[in-house]
Amino acid sequence: MSGATFVLNGRSVPFKLGQFILDAARDNGIQIPTLCYLKGLSPSGACRICLVEVKGARSLMAACSTPVAPEMDVATDSPRVHEARRLNTELLLSAGRHDCLLCEANGDCGLQELAYRYKVDGSFFPRNEDVYPVEDINPFIVRDFSRCILCGRCVQACNQLVVNRAISHGYRGKDSKIVTGGDNPYHQSDCVFCGQCVEVCPTGALTEKKMRGLGRPWETKRIRTTCPYCGVGCQMWLHVKDDRIVKVTAVEGAAPNDGRLCVKGRFGYDFIYSEERLKTPLIRENGQFREASWDEALNLVASKFTEVIEKHGPDAIAGVSCARSINEDSYQMQKLFRAVFKTNNIDHCART
Ligand code: FES
Repeated sequence: MSGATFVLNGRSVPFKLGQFILDAARDNGIQIPTLCYLKGLSPSGACRICLVEVKGARSLMAACSTPVAPEMDVATDSPRVHEARRLNTELLLSAGRHDCLLCEANGDCGLQELAYRYKVDGSFFPRNEDVYPVEDINPFIVRDFSRCILCGRCVQACNQLVVNRAISHGYRGKDSKIVTGGDNPYHQSDCVFCGQCVEVCPTGALTEKKMRGLGRPWETKRIRTTCPYCGVGCQMWLHVKDDRIVKVTAVEGAAPNDGRLCVKGRFGYDFIYSEERLKTPLIRENGQFREASWDEALNLVASKFTEVIEKHGPDAIAGVSCARSINEDSYQMQKLFRAVFKTNNIDHCART
C-alpha cells in the first residue's frame, strides 16, 4: 500500500504496510526508547518501555509490537507516555540490585539511561532481594542475576540470531531466571561462549569477565578492525584504554557478521600481550633455534626453494595455506606457487 500515512506526534507521515509503530517512527526521525527490542527479530513486548499513546485505544500500546494502520494517531512523547515509562523503569529498577557505581555496565546501560531520562529516584518500590548468586566460574562471562531485568534479549540472540539454543526462560514469578538446559552453569551447558548474549544485554546482568575493572566506557576509545582469526573477515570494535584492548564487540550493520562474533573473535585477544609471542623469525641450527632478521630468514627460505626446484623440478614442492589466514594471504600464496614457482601443487587445510 504505497502512499499510506499515519499521524505521528501531530504530523502526517508515511509508513510501509506491516511496519510496527517503532520502526515507522524511526523511519520518520522519531526515536522511541526500548529495552527488549532486538532489531530484525520478532518483538517480545517484555519490557513495556516503548509504550505510546494511540488515539482511541483503551490502554497504552507497545510500539515495538503494534502494527501501524492507515490514519492511526500516535503520540510518542505525551505526559501519559512519559509517566508510564517512568513507572515501568522504576519497577524494573526495584526488581534487582542496580547499584550502578559497582556495575561493569555503568555508562553503557539501557536501564541507567532510562532512569536518568525519566528522573527515576528509585524510592517508591521496595527492592527485591537477590535470589540467585553471581555465576563467574567460566573464563569469559559473568552472569549476575540480580541485575537481570528478564527482557529476554539474550534468549532471542542465542536462539534466533546465533541459533545455538543454549538458554531459555525458567522458573516462575519472583524466581524467574534465564536458564541453560538443566539450569547448569554456562560452562556445563550447550553454550559455546560466542558472547552474543553479552553483546545484547542492556544492563550489567551479562558482562565480559576479562574486562572487569579495566576501564569504564567513557575511558575507552573504539577502533574498528577486521578479525584476524580466519578468512571470513568479521568486523569488530576494539575497546581500547591506554593502548590496551579491554574488550571486543561486533560492528552492527556491517557485512559479513552484522553484529555477531564467535568465541575467538570476541574473547581471544590475550595472545597480543603474551610474553611467549614470537616477535622475530627463528632459524634452527644444530637442533637449536636462534633469532634472525626477516631478510635473513626469507633469503634462507628462498634459497631452499631454489635448491629443490633446480634439483627436482617445480613439482617437487607444494604449498598448503592455513584456514586461519585471511583470504588475501591465501590468494598471495597460490599466486607465488603458480606464477613464480610454476607448480599447481597448492592446497588449503579447510578442505580437510
Ligand atoms: Fe517494546 Fe520492550 S521494546 S516492549
